[in-house]
Amino acid sequence: MELKNQRWTDEEFLREREKVLSLWPTGREIDLLEAADYLRTIPPEKNYALEVVRAQNEGLTLVQPRGGVALVEDHIELLRYLQDQGGAELLPTTSDTYTRNLRFAEAQRGIEESSQAGRSMLNGLPLVNHGLRAVRRIGQSVRRPIIVLSGTAFPQLVAEMGFAGGFTGFLGAGISYTAAYTKDLPFEEGIKNYQYVDRLTSFYQEKGLRLHREQPGFLTGTLIPPGIGIAVAVLEMLMAAGQGVKHYSMGLCQSLDLFQDVAALWALKEVGKDYLFRLGYGDVFFSVASHQWMQSFPADEPRAYAVIILGGIIAALAGATQVITKTTHEAEGIPTKEANAEGVKATRMAIRLMRANRLSESPRLRQEKKIIIQEARSILDKALEMGDGDPVFAALRSLQAGVLDIPWAPNRHVIGKVIPIRDASGAVRYLEPAYLPFGPEILGYHREKIKERERRDTRKIDYEAAIHDITEISKMLED
Ligand code: 5AD
Repeated sequence: MELKNQRWTDEEFLREREKVLSLWPTGREIDLLEAADYLRTIPPEKNYALEVVRAQNEGLTLVQPRGGVALVEDHIELLRYLQDQGGAELLPTTSDTYTRNLRFAEAQRGIEESSQAGRSMLNGLPLVNHGLRAVRRIGQSVRRPIIVLSGTAFPQLVAEMGFAGGFTGFLGAGISYTAAYTKDLPFEEGIKNYQYVDRLTSFYQEKGLRLHREQPGFLTGTLIPPGIGIAVAVLEMLMAAGQGVKHYSMGLCQSLDLFQDVAALWALKEVGKDYLFRLGYGDVFFSVASHQWMQSFPADEPRAYAVIILGGIIAALAGATQVITKTTHEAEGIPTKEANAEGVKATRMAIRLMRANRLSESPRLRQEKKIIIQEARSILDKALEMGDGDPVFAALRSLQAGVLDIPWAPNRHVIGKVIPIRDASGAVRYLEPAYLPFGPEILGYHREKIKERERRDTRKIDYEAAIHDITEISKMLED
């Protein structure tokens, strides 16, 4: 089968599916038609996609934490706590690292060790190992929708288990997770693996079931210039649309520059709509999600809360439909359920305090949005030109040429020559634009902004400054 942006035929999908389900014995529990019947029994307020549509219509920002532990009963307790104590409107199920890497035998050992130790020895829920009945029991134990969060380039079986188990959302996409979570995997494979997930989603869609597919947006969890984040998100949405997905969400990570972050979320909407129409996918619904700070966090609570609360404010002022939260334990590792729920509550409070206020288009915001849109379009247009109009070829060829580049990606197939830097007001600029196809207006704008910082700091802004910017937030107030 040739890899391109074309919907897999039933035969292609089912042939691939045989291999996917044979990866672990519980795969055999999944029957698509039985699963569709099961999903039909899930009430609308527990359907992630329908809740997102409702929020978008009503102008709400829904709050979603992350979270997952090894054992089913503990995971239920965690989700109930996030729902009842934190007030989370959308619930997570983060999978463990073994599951993400298809190491199911080791995940099984992790379950056994966790049972013996009486606490979670895994960094997430191994939902494939637990199997269909256990996953359904989790969903039946809560009142809100659940999304599977599995930072992986090998998502097929975990997506099968999640959807069949009644979890109505699935996060992940072929460019971002291949770039962020693998070292050697060619993008062809990561993209194909996510075509499978998207094709699975459209299978259910055709049975009348609206499921939520989401693009992760945060990429490598470093300073990601919004133009790059948007170009990746839009390509991933176009690839999902190519498999027949009609409901999608794109994310962006916050850089904690209020104006740039809001401008970026607005730009994402505009560019997303534009390219869906241009490529003939105008019937796709999409929403935008804002990810609270994805880089290194301050270690102590008050400073971490400031970051979390600013994150809630940014999402609210931008009118994002979803915000994905962090906790004050971020610097240490996996949060307790209490800390996790508190992150949700603080974010919800910040959103509530913003009431119906949204930022309006000031000259500064307009300028920032204009530049971000130009950046994203420059990358997308050049990529699509290189890909003869096919988003899959566009992604592959542009990544190979560095026309699409992702800062500090561990994957060796990413050119990785772009270096981001903050300007004097905190917005993310390009210290090194490398092979990004930017015209003189964009380059001149960023250069001028970097010069402003040089004048303020009275020193040259160089690679060392870029390195400093990576950990700056976590160290702020320490000197
Ligand atoms: N529980 C809660 N949060 C988690 N994260 C990852 N695994 C878990 C888990 N088991 C969060 C961390 C990480 C982000 C990608 O997801 O905040 O930085």
